[in-house]
Amino acid sequence: MIAPPHCDRRTALRLAGTAVIGAMAPGLARAAPPSLAQLAAAKGMRFGSAVAAHAGGGVANPRYAALMRAECNILVPENEMKWQALRPSAHAFNFGPADAIVAFAESSGMAVRGHNLLWNRPKWQPAWLEGYDFGVRPASAAADLLTTHIRTVCEHYHGRITSFDVVNETVLPEDGSLARTAISDAIGGTLDTVDLAFRTARAAAPGVQLVYNDYMSWEPGNEAHRAGVLRLLEALRKRGTPVDALGVQSHLIAQGAAPQQRAWRDFIAAVVAMGYDLVISEFDVRDRGLPRAIAARDAGVAALARDYFDMMLSWPQCRDVLVWGLCDSFSWLQGFEPRSDGAPTRGCPYDGDYTAKPLRAAIAAAITAASPRPADRLADWARTGQTIAS
Ligand code: G3I
Repeated sequence: MIAPPHCDRRTALRLAGTAVIGAMAPGLARAAPPSLAQLAAAKGMRFGSAVAAHAGGGVANPRYAALMRAECNILVPENEMKWQALRPSAHAFNFGPADAIVAFAESSGMAVRGHNLLWNRPKWQPAWLEGYDFGVRPASAAADLLTTHIRTVCEHYHGRITSFDVVNETVLPEDGSLARTAISDAIGGTLDTVDLAFRTARAAAPGVQLVYNDYMSWEPGNEAHRAGVLRLLEALRKRGTPVDALGVQSHLIAQGAAPQQRAWRDFIAAVVAMGYDLVISEFDVRDRGLPRAIAARDAGVAALARDYFDMMLSWPQCRDVLVWGLCDSFSWLQGFEPRSDGAPTRGCPYDGDYTAKPLRAAIAAAITAASPRPADRLADWARTGQTIAS
């Protein structure tokens, strides 16, 4: 068994112990059992993760980088391509951290998703945009700010990014209406803003999969959110907006109430009936509703995940599966969604000690059980640069 490059001895031993060596870089040994990327590739799918640039849960951490190489064939920057990171001001771009991730992925033979070109929620826009003076012609100034951003990012990564979350989370979960921001108010409406973002991205990045990404989910309480996302996707289809896929974030919640499987199936069926593909873009499990005991908790997370992946992968339109971090220790859940008992959350496939958990086995089993994705569909949008439905 040969360890991936940049893999220190301790990491190599750990990886060997969990038997996941099988990096995607050419020339490396591929040992059984196969990596998640290999299992996915055998089905015409990809498996990957969000990753940072820094030395925590990032590519600058050699242990974490080795795990990424061992398990993934697609990556997405967790924060480094957001406006907050790329746009220190209206007039400046800082591509350094995002470039580091893209370079790492390329040197490891992995594809890259871009996240995101517009997060149309006031809370997640850069501080300098609040109260921004769009001048005497606000609509054209805001449109210019947005389109310049999208063109600059798409051109910077020309030929290096296969899929972009063009718009992220602009449907409000409480009532399904569209969020308003300084940019969308200046432009004169959120739907017009979303449409402009996708058209600009299509022109600037032909052949790249364009995704609307959101966190509507299958737990009770998501009904208005799902309905709002469907309304948005319908409205975009009516306008001929070039959207290829729905990014189903999949930050699942393990809780007492059973998931709304039937309602969820109806939701996804409606999405694919409109001609959209599906991307599982940010999978993890919030485990606050599970017992503290690790074995029971890990089993609960894995069982929920297996159900979810079996259902999602039953749609051939779903061919990319990305988790929002591979290791619990670096997960956003530790800070954003802590457990009330203070125990570290365990919603990722590997624990804080880089050991594979039952969740990894559940993902592997679900991918193994999935039908091969049809090859013709894979190339449709990539070949033509058009949406499948158009
Ligand atoms: O990097 C700065 C650091 O310089 C600063 O000192 C520190 C002080 O707060 O903040 C650091 O930035 C934080 C950043 O994560 C990097 O750690 C931001 O405050 C924090 O808001 C940011 O949170 C991210 C969040 O999106 C908002 O952008 C999470 O890491 C990230 O996991 C989360 O990801 C989102 C997806 O983009 C969209 N879907 C939901 C998902 C989970 O919330």
